Amino acid sequence: MNEFVRVVEVGPRDGLQNEPSEVPAATKICLIERLAATGLPVVEATSFVSAKWIPQLADAGQVLAHFRRRPGVAYPVLVPNIIGLEHALEAGAGQVAVFTAATDAFSLKNTNCSVDESLARLRPAVAYARAVGLPVRGYVSCALGCPYQGEVPVKDVVKVARALAEMGCEEISLGDTIGVGTPHRTREVLQACADQIGMARMAVHCHDTRGQALANVYACLEAGVRTVDAAVAGLGGCPYAVGATGNLATEDLVYMLHGLGFATGVDLPALLEVSRWISQMLGRAPASRLGRVAPDRLILLPPAPPLPAARPAAA
Ligand code: HMG
Ligand code: MG
Repeated sequence: MNEFVRVVEVGPRDGLQNEPSEVPAATKICLIERLAATGLPVVEATSFVSAKWIPQLADAGQVLAHFRRRPGVAYPVLVPNIIGLEHALEAGAGQVAVFTAATDAFSLKNTNCSVDESLARLRPAVAYARAVGLPVRGYVSCALGCPYQGEVPVKDVVKVARALAEMGCEEISLGDTIGVGTPHRTREVLQACADQIGMARMAVHCHDTRGQALANVYACLEAGVRTVDAAVAGLGGCPYAVGATGNLATEDLVYMLHGLGFATGVDLPALLEVSRWISQMLGRAPASRLGRVAPDRLILLPPAPPLPAARPAAA
């Protein structure tokens, strides 16, 4: 098969935004540099949100200003509004990601405004980012379920995904924020959005709270998605999503992708070293399955497929 799947590493942002302990900026910078060195094409570096809401990433400007960029790697940052975008631009961001949700209940908890209000805030921010030449990704949180509302109708997800696409987000990532999705439902929601926006613009972002994330990604790969978010060592979560735990671990995702014959460009043994290192820094074992295999027992089968000659351009 030898098709390329673009893995979007969100550990430095989604992972560290939820850490109870204080992580020094130097560790964040080292994490970003080490992740990029494994061959990951996209490393979401940090977020420019209110420090009152997410104190863990209050050092976003410092982090963004100081890590060494690798050619060919994209380092988007998350912004909730035009203030965040301005801070991101001042700090030298080259790509941004905006976020909203499929439910008012979650949007109010996470960003203190309804979905419609958040879309109205994002519209000028996305237009501004694009006017200065920055690619923009849009996240739809709670695409598979909401910690406050419960079930989320597919049409509500499609509506928000369309609104983000229409305002200029090149790529739309469907967030299973609290990890409630199962494979057929995840594929159904993805397909409904892709019918409107096109599969090439879709990505999936699965938290692994109920152990479904790999199966959900597999179902979405079958439907044609080729951009998948994950966080090294299974870090991650959102402080405003009750019950959310970490993202799908990047090393478990890459292992599956290579086994399915998809090229990722990622050096898996190097990624595993980063996973063990950051977990040690945070004082715990990696949440990934692969990270828990003793290094002297580690067998990585089969070998990573070679990169295809023509790789899709980064969004
Ligand atoms: P608010 O308190 O309603 O904001 O927060 P406001 O507009 O009323 O402003 C209040 C103060 O915040 C003002 O300062 C603003 O200047 C300041 P003051 O006058 O009091 O000194 N402010 C900012 N400061 C820094 N950066 C900014 C910014 N904006 C306003 N960007 C706000 C509204 C959206 C800012 C707040 O609710 C917030 O920052 N929320 C972020 C929550 C968050 O980061 N959640 C996690 C990320 S989303 C996620 O993890 C899901 C995802 O992974 C996908 C998935 O899993 O589903 C993406
Ligand atoms: Mg997330």
